[in-house]
Amino acid sequence: MEPTEAARLEGSDRFQRAAALGDRFLENIETVVHGKHEEIKLVLAALVCGGHVLFEDVPGTAKTVLARAIAQSIEGATPSRIQCTPDLQPTDVTGLSIYNQREREFEFRPGPIFANVVLVDEVNRAMPKTQSALLEAMAEHQVTVDGQTRVLPDPFLLIATENPIEYEGTFPLPEAQLDRFFLKTALGYPSTDEELQIVDEQRHGHPLRWLQPVISVEDVHVMREAVTTVYVDGLLQRWIVELVRATRALDEVAVGASVRGSLALERAARAWALLDHRPYVVPEDIEWLFAPVLLHRIVFRPTFLAEARRVGWIEAVAGIAETCFAAAPRPVPDSSEEPPPPERLPVHP
Ligand SMILES: Nc1ncnc2c1ncn2[C@@H]1O[C@H](COP(=O)(O)OP(=O)(O)O)[C@@H](O)[C@H]1O
Ligand SMILES: [Mg+2]
Repeated sequence: MEPTEAARLEGSDRFQRAAALGDRFLENIETVVHGKHEEIKLVLAALVCGGHVLFEDVPGTAKTVLARAIAQSIEGATPSRIQCTPDLQPTDVTGLSIYNQREREFEFRPGPIFANVVLVDEVNRAMPKTQSALLEAMAEHQVTVDGQTRVLPDPFLLIATENPIEYEGTFPLPEAQLDRFFLKTALGYPSTDEELQIVDEQRHGHPLRWLQPVISVEDVHVMREAVTTVYVDGLLQRWIVELVRATRALDEVAVGASVRGSLALERAARAWALLDHRPYVVPEDIEWLFAPVLLHRIVFRPTFLAEARRVGWIEAVAGIAETCFAAAPRPVPDSSEEPPPPERLPVHP
């Protein structure tokens, strides 16, 4: 066997192993959170891309349970929770240095941000100064306290929740901050049958109590590495950029999605392909991810927001997605050209 062929097979073997880790992870979490397969997959996509998630949801939809289930599924990973209130200080998040009388020196007491899976509840109730501290942590995977920079654990996944738009918080997140979230989704209520199952299941305690780790931190790195090897056709890459640019040209929009949006959509599509055991991206990945990856990055005009309040948010943004897909239609593949095997193609980090 040629060495290149051996390398190709080894590469595809590694890819399939990474995809299988994704399955195992997802299945484990689904033993405690029911009927939310696609939503959990989105959160895992964010995790393997090193991104963070914003949930806009009503209370009691398993957000806390999901965050804890993710942490518990990774061997040695730690969870933490931050409840935002208007008087929450940045140091309540990051931690602070305290003078130790006996040792006669300052020692650092890490705040709740120093965990692998951090749930930040009602992020729009925190004051801007505290939101900024969270932002730095999310973007840089580090925090600076008393002039000293400290690195956060790896993996680091932040899941923030906010109340639905109708119950606007005290301090709505500025758009620069929203752009830092890799994607936004909602869990929502389960179906009647699922809710019955949940009630039944919890008679003797919460299923989280028995949830065991199924992957290691190293496995998360294996999945991350596999995501970088997923092939994205040039036509699809261009389409991603065109779709993001289309959000900037809409009448309803004051500021469209930034370049971060293009980066995130391409990365998310690669992660989605991995979780589907596919070493290449298909147009459906991009179509499916458009809303969760891009919509929260758009600043809408007040007239659109008023309209959205009238007809409902879902209805209103469906129109936005439609307009973008009309402006940037799905590319037609050049069928005369046989695509080369994905493993041999250049990697897009
Ligand atoms: N889809 C679901 N699958 C499993 N349990 C659920 C689901 N939705 C809600 N629950 C249950 O409802 C309760 C509240 O969930 P919790 O995570 O505390 O809600 P919140 O979204 O407010 O953080 C938990 O016992 C949780 O297991
Ligand atoms: Mg909760």
